[in-house]
Amino acid sequence: MNLYGRSFLTLKDFTAEEIEYLLNLAADLKEKKKKGITGNSLKGKNIALIFEKTSTRTRCAFTIGCVDEGGYPEYLGANDIQLGSKETIEDTARVLGRMFDGIEYRGFEHEKVEKLAQYAKVPVWNGLTDEYHPTQILADFLTIREKFGTLKGIKLVFVGDGRNNMANSLLIGSGKMGVDFTIIAPKQLWPKEDLVELCKQYASQSGGNITLTDDMSYVEGADVIYTDVWCSMGEEEKAAERIALLSPYQINEKVMKNTKKSSTIFMHCLPAVRGKEVTEEVLEGQQSVVFDEAENRLHTIKAVMVATLGNQGK
Ligand code: CP
Ligand code: NVA
Repeated sequence: MNLYGRSFLTLKDFTAEEIEYLLNLAADLKEKKKKGITGNSLKGKNIALIFEKTSTRTRCAFTIGCVDEGGYPEYLGANDIQLGSKETIEDTARVLGRMFDGIEYRGFEHEKVEKLAQYAKVPVWNGLTDEYHPTQILADFLTIREKFGTLKGIKLVFVGDGRNNMANSLLIGSGKMGVDFTIIAPKQLWPKEDLVELCKQYASQSGGNITLTDDMSYVEGADVIYTDVWCSMGEEEKAAERIALLSPYQINEKVMKNTKKSSTIFMHCLPAVRGKEVTEEVLEGQQSVVFDEAENRLHTIKAVMVATLGNQGK
């Protein structure tokens, strides 16, 4: 498998085999890191980390992942560069592409990261946009594989804002990888129909399954209960409306019991708002794997950089 030179904007652009390859590479890098072995696959490579929104996990995973492999990361925060305000995206992309070997971008409109990739001529990695959060899905799927040994046929139930970047990206990833994926959300917060149709096509090829419902009884049988914040970054003014819509969809101990499985795990991409989308008891409980999931951001993001930019790929 050779992903050298590829950008990583959404999982739509990757086959099941390529996603599997990235997960295997991440598992390998994780094992090595635990033994104190780091690499030099990014030696001599400089990467730009553009963050128009705040971040803990993604920023740190790109930084540590890059340094572990011998590269140099440069953080460019919202107020540090001229992107999209004083300077067009096209111009910034071409300038950064002349100086850096790879560019991570976290921001608002997904079109911006696409434009960056088009003009920069170096790999561009999506660190989250309003629409997609693909690096998070790799960490989630590595975590699920570690807990259950497989992705195929795993019943993954996402509850909450069914049209945010996490729901969209889990939908794509599940369709590609043969996961049995359900979104439980009020109808106003369902994902766009064309994306659902596309992912149903993926699922028909992978042996996966996609279900949309507003009925909480669909948590029954879930191997994984997944939730995310009710108001994503940039949507803060929608807080009251979302609380009203989503309060019946909170993940609490009763919901975890209603899966009727003691083996169900709880996942959340974090950061979490305790007492809103998830209770303190569930987040801190025995079934929660959120910190394994957070750690796996490092190994999977490192795998994306190594695969698309690593010296071995040339
Ligand atoms: N899950 C995630 O992307 O976390 P950060 O916003 O802290 O990067
Ligand atoms: N949906 C959340 C994910 C944060 C990692 C947001 O966009 O804020």
